[in-house]
Amino acid sequence: MRLTIIGSGYVGLVAAACFAELGHQIICVDNDQQKIELLRAGEVPIYEEFLPELLAKHRGRRLRFTTELTEALANCAAVFIAVGTPATEQGEADMSCVEEVSRAIARSLDGYKVVVEKSTVPVLTHDWVRKVMLMNGAPPGSFDVASNPEFLREGSAVRDFLYPDRIVLGVGNERSSEVLHQIYEPLASGRYYQDASRVPGPAEPRIPPIIVTSPKSAELIKHASNAFLATKVSFINAVANVCEAVGADIQQVCEGMGTDSRIGRKFLNPGIGYGGSCFPKDLVAFHAVARECGYDFPLLEEVSRVNREQLRRFVRRVKGALWTLRGKKLAVLGLSFKGGTDDMRESPALGVVELLLYEGCEIRAYDPAAMEHARRLLPAQVGYAANPYEAATGADALLILNDWKEFATMELERLRKVMAYPIVVDGRNLYDPAAMSAAGFTYYSIGRPAVLAERKVEAVPVGDIAVSPHPHYRLGDIVAPSAAWNPQSPQSQ
Ligand SMILES: NC(=O)c1ccc[n+]([C@@H]2O[C@H](COP(=O)([O-])OP(=O)(O)OC[C@H]3O[C@@H](n4cnc5c(N)ncnc54)[C@H](O)[C@@H]3O)[C@@H](O)[C@H]2O)c1
Repeated sequence: MRLTIIGSGYVGLVAAACFAELGHQIICVDNDQQKIELLRAGEVPIYEEFLPELLAKHRGRRLRFTTELTEALANCAAVFIAVGTPATEQGEADMSCVEEVSRAIARSLDGYKVVVEKSTVPVLTHDWVRKVMLMNGAPPGSFDVASNPEFLREGSAVRDFLYPDRIVLGVGNERSSEVLHQIYEPLASGRYYQDASRVPGPAEPRIPPIIVTSPKSAELIKHASNAFLATKVSFINAVANVCEAVGADIQQVCEGMGTDSRIGRKFLNPGIGYGGSCFPKDLVAFHAVARECGYDFPLLEEVSRVNREQLRRFVRRVKGALWTLRGKKLAVLGLSFKGGTDDMRESPALGVVELLLYEGCEIRAYDPAAMEHARRLLPAQVGYAANPYEAATGADALLILNDWKEFATMELERLRKVMAYPIVVDGRNLYDPAAMSAAGFTYYSIGRPAVLAERKVEAVPVGDIAVSPHPHYRLGDIVAPSAAWNPQSPQSQ
């Protein structure tokens, strides 16, 4: 089938490459001329496992790139909207790109098409897309609007797309439903999983169920799913804080809770809080849309509050580990919002680094994929290293801020030898405290008692140590994230 994808970011580009992998003819459109030139030249603008291989395999054959929407829409069966929907200053989803694209599609229609929302959008957006298209000359009957939310995770996006838990199709009629079923047929029939050259996945892949809903239910499924996952993260972080207060071990609590099949082990990972381009903005957008519909949903506000507080607790923990911060040399491992991606949007690591700089620390950071972005976002005084050991050389402490595999498998002996003081403050619980203690480290983690080399110490009373307010990073305000570290804001370019 001929498909058009508008927006070549983390979602659009992955969707385009994966649809090409499923046998479709894809044209990918973006209004960022530079990005399109880069893609045409064979480069890959984002870090994502298997994406370079898929782009190389299909570029110029089943996959083309353009900035020209009209040309891209010619003869396609469906057009997927995958542009950004960032948060406005008020916390609502900014739908201006979706509106702009809807207008442009309306003016370029050359026959019946299904217009598919792939971007995460507030409930009832499909109605707006339809109205905007009609107002811009699209003949009624020449299109349908459907919702096909995307659940991929950065870091494993290609695999998530090709081996999804489920495919949600929010459709208003048979005609659009039929087109979307055909598009996903290679997955829903299991045909793709018989292909010997498929992207590596489970040995015996499970055929994903297709869940057909109304467009508004599909829109809600995406917002509600992200809000629920963010709630799970904040919940376990709050439990970790109770563990710290009583000296219990959050990992044991997670095992005990997670083996209950009603709860599940996934997303029960305490840390420094969630970030990324989805959870923070989708949570506030869902809150805003619920409020607009007449329901306040205060639970969502509390989830955001716990998340903000978690980052501040971590900085207090660092202060608790080091007594004073001014002039301390800190190695920071991990800058993207999680391992496996170069995406720095709403990364809690940025907030931590900014607060520590404000406290007068010297920072030398390392991240396997995000340092290029970080240089543009963080103040110039942050230093960068080529690997974890270089970052740690001469450091008073080492902080782990995201969960790249590389950080969980460091040579501990080598690490300890290069550090000025063998202190590790682990914001992702990547190590076993006993092993760190045996390796000669004083080790602090989340929701577990701190350990000295070979012996336990009392839990650090993190609540007693104040951190100065920071002028850029407005800790009390998630609704309008600070321009200083919001990559979507023009000030940070
Ligand atoms: N990133 C994720 O993990 C993820 C997962 C699921 C859903 N989503 C949702 O998918 C959507 C896209 O997210 P993303 O992370 O890919 O964003 P992104 O910022 O990486 O990509 C968006 C792309 O759209 C392009 N664009 C903007 N306006 C355009 C226009 N008028 N015409 C053509 N191109 C235009 C931009 O240049 C950019 O390349 C968002 O709604 C997001 O919430 C993201």
